[in-house]
Amino acid sequence: MVLDIKSVLIVDGVGANCSEILKAHGISSTNIAKISKDDLLKEVPKYDALVVRSASQVNKAVLEAGANLKVVGRAGAGVDNIDVKTAGERGVGVINAPGANALSACELTCNLILSLSRHVVPAAASMKAGKWERANFTGTEVNGKTLAILGLGRVGREVAIRMNAFGMKIIGFDPFVSAEQCATFHATKMELDEIWPHADYITLHTPLIESTKNFINANTLKQCKKGVKIVNVGRGGLIQERDLLDALQSGQVGGAALDVFEQEPPTDPLTLEIIQHKAVIATPHLGASTKEAQVRVGQEIAEQLVNLVKPGTYNTPLAEVTRVLNK
Ligand code: MLT
Repeated sequence: MVLDIKSVLIVDGVGANCSEILKAHGISSTNIAKISKDDLLKEVPKYDALVVRSASQVNKAVLEAGANLKVVGRAGAGVDNIDVKTAGERGVGVINAPGANALSACELTCNLILSLSRHVVPAAASMKAGKWERANFTGTEVNGKTLAILGLGRVGREVAIRMNAFGMKIIGFDPFVSAEQCATFHATKMELDEIWPHADYITLHTPLIESTKNFINANTLKQCKKGVKIVNVGRGGLIQERDLLDALQSGQVGGAALDVFEQEPPTDPLTLEIIQHKAVIATPHLGASTKEAQVRVGQEIAEQLVNLVKPGTYNTPLAEVTRVLNK
């Protein structure tokens, strides 16, 4: 069975190559980099497929409004901004680009670990404010420190390889990865309760699911070394934000670098207080925001869509989250 996709709505700033590939196969597309919730609801009924990054919520209302939708493409790894249950019930397939962003997310993670260790962000801000404060910004080496990686999938294992090259000892937790597999990327597998007391840095690379929600919380933080540093380029919601703020204020957490938040963009006063904390580096969900990653995701999603219309055109495998060809 082939799908009849003639028109695709692409939102959230997916690379222009996505439209170009579709066009080369006679599929028209409209690319709206920034779209409001209301405009998405107005636009979506006109299209056979929708492609999003993480900004737009493809919730029940959007799926119901998109009466002609046959497939939703997530130009990225997870699908937590898509109501996959409703999509499945409505016979709308969901596809994604699971590995295309991994290296970019990994590189941002490594960058944040190093920035935290050497106070790069506050030191640069102090220079811009006309100051010269060398003594305030004495850092620590990462060499010889222990990095705990929670989630050893595509991103986590790339982080392990790179930070091991900086001399860090890598420990990790992932129920789906064996100790032997861990050894291939220089990580020692541990159980979760063993991890906390060893870690100097913790970085999060798990999907956001019921069992990982609030993974980092008051209970887990109190088992860590005082001054532990936390990096989250994974998903908002993996960290209990109230508990993180308390731990930052007490010094139990010595620094945090956060690229993702429970609500994006954040407006909650608690989250804003975390962002303002002097030991926090905050970035606006930039993990996948590189030219290279956006070209890769644009290409992966476009080629999958073309294959659904003209099977076998590209070698790109179908990354189905809910069934696309279900009839
Ligand atoms: C991802 O899940 O791959 C990213 O969060 C996508 C994005 O940056 O929008």
